[in-house]
Amino acid sequence: TGFITLDPGYANTGSCLSAITYMDGEKGILRYRGIPVEQLAEKATFKETAYLLINGRLPNREQLTRFSVMLNDNSLVHEDLKTFYQNFPRASHPMGILSAMVNALRSFYPELGTLEEEITITMTRLLAKVRTMAAMSYKISRGHRVVYPRPDLTYCENFLNMMFDTPVRPYEINRAAVNALRVFWILHADHEQNCSTSAVRMVGSARVNLYAAISSGIAALWGPLHGGANQAVIEMLTTIQNEGGNYHKAIERAKDKNDPFRLMGFGHRIYKTYDPRAKIMKKMCDELLDSLQIDDPLLDIAKELEEVAVKDPYFVDHNLYPNIDFYSGIVLRAIGIPTNMFTVMFAIGRLPGWIAQWKESMDDPKWKISRPRQIYVGEREYDFVPIHARP
Ligand code: CMC
Repeated sequence: TGFITLDPGYANTGSCLSAITYMDGEKGILRYRGIPVEQLAEKATFKETAYLLINGRLPNREQLTRFSVMLNDNSLVHEDLKTFYQNFPRASHPMGILSAMVNALRSFYPELGTLEEEITITMTRLLAKVRTMAAMSYKISRGHRVVYPRPDLTYCENFLNMMFDTPVRPYEINRAAVNALRVFWILHADHEQNCSTSAVRMVGSARVNLYAAISSGIAALWGPLHGGANQAVIEMLTTIQNEGGNYHKAIERAKDKNDPFRLMGFGHRIYKTYDPRAKIMKKMCDELLDSLQIDDPLLDIAKELEEVAVKDPYFVDHNLYPNIDFYSGIVLRAIGIPTNMFTVMFAIGRLPGWIAQWKESMDDPKWKISRPRQIYVGEREYDFVPIHARP
């Protein structure tokens, strides 16, 4: 069987060739298909970014129009899916529901065309419907009537409208909130072979359908060390606030090797410097709160904590800086997203990346089913013991 190298967490294993996202963790560089993420965050729409990741190039006017029409046409979800939510216990986490629903989409939309047709329609359905499903779950959790998507609104406006429009208080488009959501989703759109993307590729390598592969990506993203960190950051900052704002205790606990506590929103497998996405998120967070005239005490705590932590020798020696999740929760709170939906927001943003990576793996001429090896450390062979003779 040859020589097997043990590589916990696959930290030094290249699992694929990819032309989608470039990262330099030492310099803090992130590019989608060659374009710096800073430029996309400043100038692109989320729809264009999704198209870029999946198709490799920014769309021209005609391609973008066609893409928009397809997204619009596929944005409704099967009415029977509404009952799906109602049968989950009230306190269910939305990520568990979303993962199950995305898997169930295969049963609602089972038709098979050619592989090419199927890929296009499935990708479009996911991009269009997951956003609708997320807003729908929020409405149902509040006991409110579901709001349908509208063809006259942009991708981001539509989501906010589906979330916050009510018959008694029609949603008024707020430019700053729409822009914040656009930037939030663009910054989350891809991040090469992270845990959830690797899950999508690995599950996809068994040639399951795209819905099932994305459903496993959502399950992986749920974890507090991955996408769940944005919720965990707000919970951590709230605890600090409730304890009188003493963030030093959190810093000390994070340094204590006998304490499993970690500073949520800090550290990254690849970035050994400031996460470039966190830089944009922090700046945007300031601008958004200013524009909405919100004074969030959690932002003050976050900034003070960051300032002290990045100078602390433990954090310096371990190259621990804020990651994207450190400020993203404060942004989501400001636009009215409930905390338990934060990771769902990450999932909507990451969809184009998952889809692009899955598509790339399907097109890979060197494709193989993922099947890592192990180093066995169990018992040597011994004989079966009959029950009467067992100790
Ligand atoms: N607080 C305190 N110590 C930390 C932290 C932290 N947040 N992150 C890493 N360390 C320490 C860790 O204890 C270890 O120390 P030592 O070498 O002395 O034993 C060292 O840094 C290396 O840590 P690691 O766990 O081997 O690093 P990793 O690359 O496996 O983990 C990580 C990366 C992101 C899971 C980790 O930094 C972490 O748990 N961070 C907190 C959770 C978080 O913010 N996750 C969001 C990541 S960005 C968005 C996303 O990917 O979804």
